[in-house]
Amino acid sequence: MSTDLSPALLRQIAQDHGTPVWVYDAAMIRRRIDDLRAFDTVRFAQKANSNTHVLRLMREQGVKVDAVSLGEIERALRAGFQPGCTPGQPSEIVFTADLFDRATLARVVELGVPVNAGSVDMLHQLGAVAAGHPVWLRINPGFGHGHSNKTNTGGEHSKHGIWHADLPLALAAIRTHGLRLVGLHMHIGSGVDYGHLEQVCEAMVDLVTRSGADLEAISAGGGLSVPYRDGEPRIDTAHYFGLWDAARQRIAAHLGHPVHLELEPGRYLVAESGLLLAEVRATKAMGANRFVLVDAGFNDLMRPSMYGSHHAISVLDAPADAPRLPCVVAGPLCESGDVFTQGEGGVVLTRELPAVQVGDLMVFHNGGAYGASMSSNYNSRPLIPEVLVDAGRARLIRRRQTVAELLALEDC
Ligand code: LLP
Repeated sequence: MSTDLSPALLRQIAQDHGTPVWVYDAAMIRRRIDDLRAFDTVRFAQKANSNTHVLRLMREQGVKVDAVSLGEIERALRAGFQPGCTPGQPSEIVFTADLFDRATLARVVELGVPVNAGSVDMLHQLGAVAAGHPVWLRINPGFGHGHSNKTNTGGEHSKHGIWHADLPLALAAIRTHGLRLVGLHMHIGSGVDYGHLEQVCEAMVDLVTRSGADLEAISAGGGLSVPYRDGEPRIDTAHYFGLWDAARQRIAAHLGHPVHLELEPGRYLVAESGLLLAEVRATKAMGANRFVLVDAGFNDLMRPSMYGSHHAISVLDAPADAPRLPCVVAGPLCESGDVFTQGEGGVVLTRELPAVQVGDLMVFHNGGAYGASMSSNYNSRPLIPEVLVDAGRARLIRRRQTVAELLALEDC
């Protein structure tokens, strides 16, 4: 189990709220935040889990927040984060993107939310309406990495960030429009290996020292992996901080003043806190393959279908010594890719699991990041509830959507 939540509590949650249901463990989130306290600012990339109650928990722990859309800005405000930016202080909300849609540009300007710009066009569009606005520059250092090609956000095949060689153009745009440069930011991907994470520090020092830019802060981005499989090592966060602290000190020595160090993790803070609870609704054999069909689909947990991601699966209350059988675990969607046990490229895999029958509860572990936040209404399936467990108490933090709510959008 990825969390300490007891089987009895999970069974109770399934009874109270039905399945499928997301369950998060607040204690686990706090533990992961504590791992990163050495950084001056931990800024939660809320795309990993944007439930406003989770955001509130983050805020109570002193974590700041990143937003990548108008919706995420409004979520941050709802959770109590303050917009705006005081020089020398880390802002509570930063808007990070590679482009502005018109409504978001207007709202960012209205609120004074600092912008982490991933294109020079953003600087021109912002500068034209809001001289003096605080900006970060998200730089693509020319390399990237991720747990999948789809989560690599650096290098010349990525759309993200301002190409490192274009930094002078970005600085010129900042000068032309009188924008206020806060800092440089690099995020090279999600689920990044340690070697690539180390490389980013060097790229940051190199870029700042060559650019001639003065800045208050640097951001290491996110990307920190978590162990999804038994035996996978956990990142040594003290060592990782040490690398960035050394980079920050070299930059501070070059600039002649202290430099604030931010980190922007999503997955690291929430992945292990969350699980998806689903009920077995059918079992059947297809030739040699034994299929277990549950009431959650890739519209709920998309990661296996999207990236071939591995999520540990267990059967609630199965005895530890129960004999195990190779199973394909799949969902209810009318699509062959609705399989939780698959590898990259959609290859169907089996998982050794205790024998199950209809009515058993299955747990999909490590789903707190990019689980609920990536879910959809595909096959006209309503979004499922989210429950936060804190100090042994389970609290509904998003109710189940109804079919009537889905249909209501089309009352026009
Ligand atoms: N900062 C920026 C600018 C980002 O684009 C992201 C993630 C993060 C921070 C946080 O990255 P993290 O610490 O979570 O790795 N849906 C994929 C992950 C996509 C990540 C997108 N950007 C997945 O389920 O693995």
